[in-house]
Parts: sequence; structure tokens; C-alpha cells
Amino acid sequence: MIVELRHVYKNYIQGKMETPVLKDINFGIEEGEYVAIMGPSGSGKSTLMNIVGCLDQATSGELFIDGRDVSKCTDNEMADVRLNKIGFIFQNFQLLPRETALENVALPLSYAGVPVKERRKRAAEALEKVGLGDRMKHTPLQLSGGQKQRVAIARAMINHPKILLADEPTGALDQASGRAVMEMFRALNDEGITILMITHDANIAAHADRIVEIWDGELRYPEGEEHTFTGSAAAKNKETGAEQDQPAGPEDAEETEAEHE
Ligand SMILES: Nc1ncnc2c1ncn2[C@@H]1O[C@H](COP(=O)(O)OP(=O)(O)OP(=O)(O)O)[C@@H](O)[C@H]1O
Ligand SMILES: [Mg+2]
Repeated sequence: MIVELRHVYKNYIQGKMETPVLKDINFGIEEGEYVAIMGPSGSGKSTLMNIVGCLDQATSGELFIDGRDVSKCTDNEMADVRLNKIGFIFQNFQLLPRETALENVALPLSYAGVPVKERRKRAAEALEKVGLGDRMKHTPLQLSGGQKQRVAIARAMINHPKILLADEPTGALDQASGRAVMEMFRALNDEGITILMITHDANIAAHADRIVEIWDGELRYPEGEEHTFTGSAAAKNKETGAEQDQPAGPEDAEETEAEHE
């Protein structure tokens, strides 16, 4: 699995009040999968995505990204995972308003220490790829919503991440632009990119291979599709002695978490 969450909880603390937002999230995404998360407003979708994207840390639980236990990472190591493994797409595009499309797309490369000439070349290629070769010098104000989201996709993919995280990527778009974004996601997924997409829209979710629902901070799986833990996480569990109290006998073997396939 390229992403795995294990007993993840998130509580927001404001003063003396603690609000539980994510409750025992157990969830995995296979490499190359395209998963949609649906759920009502306030159910914890963005919170979940921000944790998977290493933008925020869980209150407790474990997160594995591409085999790495991110829950034990320092802030710097998390930034590294973010930069190299993950691309982000947001409903409101999150482009720098004063910078051109080209500069926006090139930005992650500057964090990665790529020389300026190479940055420009690669950003221009990425914009060509999303059909915006003729809009490179435009600022976000001079672009349509659909075009802005294509710039955001080019930026998200510029470091060749393995995982694309998208929070309501079509939420601010008309139907035609939304469809164009979905076609790009399909093409990226066909190239092997793993996609996790949040959406309210069942028609948009239908583009994914698998839909998972979240209600009030808890994931709901279709019957028989509950998450089973991978070998590495289950082995880790043994290491930490998390379930040593009840060693699994042969009769309850199917209830252990090691049997992942
Ligand atoms: N920084 C914060 N401090 C306190 N509570 C927060 C914070 N961020 C989110 N919450 C609470 O966590 C819950 C989940 O928020 P989240 O943004 O994850 O919901 P969502 O499912 O993405 O909703 P929407 O569909 O409206 O975007 C909400 O009840 C929200 O009020
Ligand atoms: Mg949200």
C-alpha cells in the first residue's frame, strides 16, 4: 500500500474544549488506485486529506506513506515527503495571485533546488501538457476557473509525485471544466499516479475506482470491504506489542490483522 492510516484520531483543541474530528480511521490506498472520499460538510474530509498530505499531524495513530512511517517524522522530514511524494489540488486553486502561470508551476521546483533555467523549461513543458502553452504569462486573474485548475494540476505534478491529493477539485468549476479536470485525473491515473479525491458530487466520485464514505469522522466501508492492515503495519503492531494481550490462536486467525491481501 502506498498510503496507510492506522487508528488515526484527530482532535482540535480550542482553549479547554476538545473536539474529536477523526475517530479511529483505518484506511489504505494501493499504489495506482483512484479513490474518492464522500461525506457531508464538516465530516472531516479536509482534515483527513491534510493529514494524509502531511500538512497536519494526527493527534494519535500512524500514517505510512510509500512505506515510510510519517507519524514519526520531524517537520523537516514531513516537508520532504510532501515535496517529493505528493501533489495537491484544492477547490480554490491556491495559486499565487501576482505570479504568472509559469512562475506558479515552477514554484515547487525552487523548493527542490532546481536551477532557474531548468525550472522555467520544465514548467513550460508542464503547462503545454495541460493545454496552456499559450497562457504561460497570464496571472490567475487573467485565467478562467478551469484554466486555473489546469495550472494547479501542472504545479501539483511538476515534481513527479506518486500521489495526487485533491480536495473538491471541481467544486468551483462549471460542468465542462469539471469534466476536463476529470479527464486529466484519468490520464494521470492511467500513467500510474495514485489519486485520493474528495468530492460532494456523486457524478465526480464515479470517476474513481473506489468510493469511501466518511460520516462524522468515521469511515464507512461497503459491506465486506473493510480495511485490513498490511503486513508491515501488522508486523509493527507485534513489535510494539500492541496486541500481545491476546495472542492469536489458530481459531481466531482470521481476525488478526496480518492476513492482508
Ligand atoms: N482548525 C480547526 N479548529 C477547530 N475545529 C476545526 C478546525 N478545522 C476543522 N475543524 C472542525 O473539524 C470538522 C471537520 O472539518 P473539515 O474541514 O475536515 O470538514 P469537511 O468534511 O472537509 O467539510 P466541507 O465539506 O465543508 O469542506 C468540522 O466540524 C470543523 O468545524
Ligand atoms: Mg473540506
